This record gives sequence, structure tokens and C-alpha cells, in this order.
Amino acid sequence: MSDSTAQLVFLPGDGTGPEVVREARKVLDALGEGDAHPWSVEEHPGGAIYYRDHGKEWEPASEEAALHADAVLLGAVGWPGIMLPDGNIAGAALVLGLRRRLDLYANVRPCRLYPGVLHRISGKFSQVWSPENVDLVVVRENTEGLYTPVHGRLDRGGSTDVAVDTRLITRKGAERVIRYAFELAGRRGRGAPEDKARRVTCVDKSNVLAGCQFFRETYDRIAAEYAGVARDYAYVDAFTQWVVRNPEHYDVVVSTNMMGDIISDLASVLQGGMGFAAGGNIGEGHAMFEPVHGSAPKHAGKNEVNPMATFLALEMMLRYLGDRRSDSRFTRQADRLERTIARLLADGSVRTYDQGGTVRTSEAGDRVAAAIRGEAA
Ligand code: IPM
Ligand code: MN
Repeated sequence: MSDSTAQLVFLPGDGTGPEVVREARKVLDALGEGDAHPWSVEEHPGGAIYYRDHGKEWEPASEEAALHADAVLLGAVGWPGIMLPDGNIAGAALVLGLRRRLDLYANVRPCRLYPGVLHRISGKFSQVWSPENVDLVVVRENTEGLYTPVHGRLDRGGSTDVAVDTRLITRKGAERVIRYAFELAGRRGRGAPEDKARRVTCVDKSNVLAGCQFFRETYDRIAAEYAGVARDYAYVDAFTQWVVRNPEHYDVVVSTNMMGDIISDLASVLQGGMGFAAGGNIGEGHAMFEPVHGSAPKHAGKNEVNPMATFLALEMMLRYLGDRRSDSRFTRQADRLERTIARLLADGSVRTYDQGGTVRTSEAGDRVAAAIRGEAA
């Protein structure tokens, strides 16, 4: 067990980011009350609005703090119309930048439907999928693929003629994310809802793309080391229909960067929407956790968005710290937070607008914090 305090860096960012991170702070403070808690939190500004106002995405000291943190919690970055000179979103340093700088190669996105959570389909609230059938994790490669900065535009005579993005799949990149997926299937232990089999599904487009063929060959080589985990394959196009029709078949799903980006947003519909989608960006020595929903300019400043994705990201962070530091104090708080969230979702007392409810962002935070205080640690 590590004696030192875990240094946590919170990056609220832009738009709804600060609104949900404020609530996460409330919840973490409630968890830390009473006993001396094994963490300390620093908050640093940054993102697109910061760039507009200061001409840089964040301060060097903030970057340093994030680079040396035991874990980072990111709200969201980006704002319409605020771009870097290279055409990328301002604030990218905090998300894409940190993923690469800290070599956070696995983007882990659990998709679990909690009892009491509704789906909005065609503007109506219903329960198309049942909680016992939705419990999968998408593991997305996070440092290469189509996001590799081997790209550019050919401008001639004042306008662009050609734009090119190069999709890079490396042996190292594929091996480590696939291995992560197999290890995770073992650690989760509960398998797919359908048959309780531990399974890693390789999602690719290997009927067409060389990079995907290489990714699948790598998958097969690594899979051979994990006898207790079933092999499973899906072309990404087919996967989009299968995961909707048969989510119970899936346990852990591994894919390349851009495909993982798309299928994890799709899968979030099964868990009640982006208001519940949390992700952990995991590397060897660092980790960053975030709600997947982004800065959501349309909803910013209205105190209406669902903070559950950020609470679930916080839970992932506590669980990660517990494992990494072999310190059960973090794991106990993660369990406590998860129990509380599950209870309040089941009794309908934290239904924000996206769930057809009227609970405000700050009220949801107050209710989770109060419920934590009311329960023994
Ligand atoms: C995500 C987001 C980011 C990505 C954006 C904001 C750059 O969509 O975390 O999924 O594409 O990875
Ligand atoms: Mn995305």
C-alpha cells in the first residue's frame, strides 16, 4: 500500500465541462469526509475559451500538473468557432494531447444499463433493452489509427485541392490494447450476459483494410495466450446492427481508434445515452478519466445536463487508483459511489432532462452527495 497521497488533477474545460466537474468535486468531497482521505485535488483551467482569452490552451504549470498527476479528471473541451491555427479544435492539447503525451493507449468505455434508466427513442422515453442484457466494455485504441498526426492539406493558389489522413496501425499499438482487452475480460470475470462466457470481440474491417488485417492477426496471436477467454470477430459495419439487436452477446470489445470512437457513441444509446457514458484513458503509468459527452454548447450554462457520466468516470478513477496503488481505501469509496448511484437511478430521484425528468445538474450532485453522507463508509 502506498502511503503518499494521490495527487488528482481536475480539468473542467469548456461548456458543460465545468458544470459536471463541479458536481464531481461535491461527490468526491462527500466521499472524503470523516476519515483522512488518501487524495488531494487541484483544479486547472484550460480549453477553447481559455485559448480565446489568453492565446494559449492552458498554462505551462497546468500542463506540468497534469503530466505528473496520479490521475486526471477531464470535463470537456471545445467551443464552436474557436480553432487552432492548424484547424484543430482549441483545447485539443487537454484531450488528444494528453492521450499521446501520457501514452494513454487504452480508452476504456463501459456500457452498462442501470435499472431505472430510460432510453429516448424518437423523442419518447422507453425501456427497449433490459439492464441484465447490457453490460459490455468498449476498449478503443487511443494513440494511433486515423488519429495519427500524419496528415495535411495541399493548398494551391489560395484554396485546398487535397486533404489526406494516414491510418497507422503499429505492432506495439495493436498488441498492447488487445492485451489490455483480454486482461480486462479476465478481471471483470462475469462474462457476457448471454452465456456468462468471457469473450473479447475484435471489431475491424479486415475484409478490406490492411491495417485491420494486421490488427486481427495480432488479436489472434494474443488470444492464443488466453485460453479462458472466447474469441469473437465482427466487421465494424455488421457490429453496429448486432450490438443493438443482441447486446447480451458482448463482454469486452476491442477496436482501432476511430472505429472505437464511433461504436462507443452508438453503444451509449443502450445505456441510456451520453449522460451515462464514462471513459478511462489508461496507460502504463498514467490515467485520465472523462465523461464522453463533450462540452455540449447547446446545453452549457443551463444547469441541466446529466452529471452521471462524470460520477461514473470518478468511480472508474477511484477503482483504478485502488488497483494501481494496492490501496483498498480507494476501492471501498468506488464501491460506495457505485452503490449510491445505482440506488438513486433505480428510485428515479436523479432524473435529469435527458431522462424526461426535471432534476437539475446541481440537484443531482446534491442528492448523490447527501446519499453518500447518509450511508456508512
Ligand atoms: C472522444 C471525443 C474526442 C475524440 C474528440 C473531442 C477529439 O469524440 O473522446 O470520443 O475524437 O476522441
Ligand atoms: Mn467521440
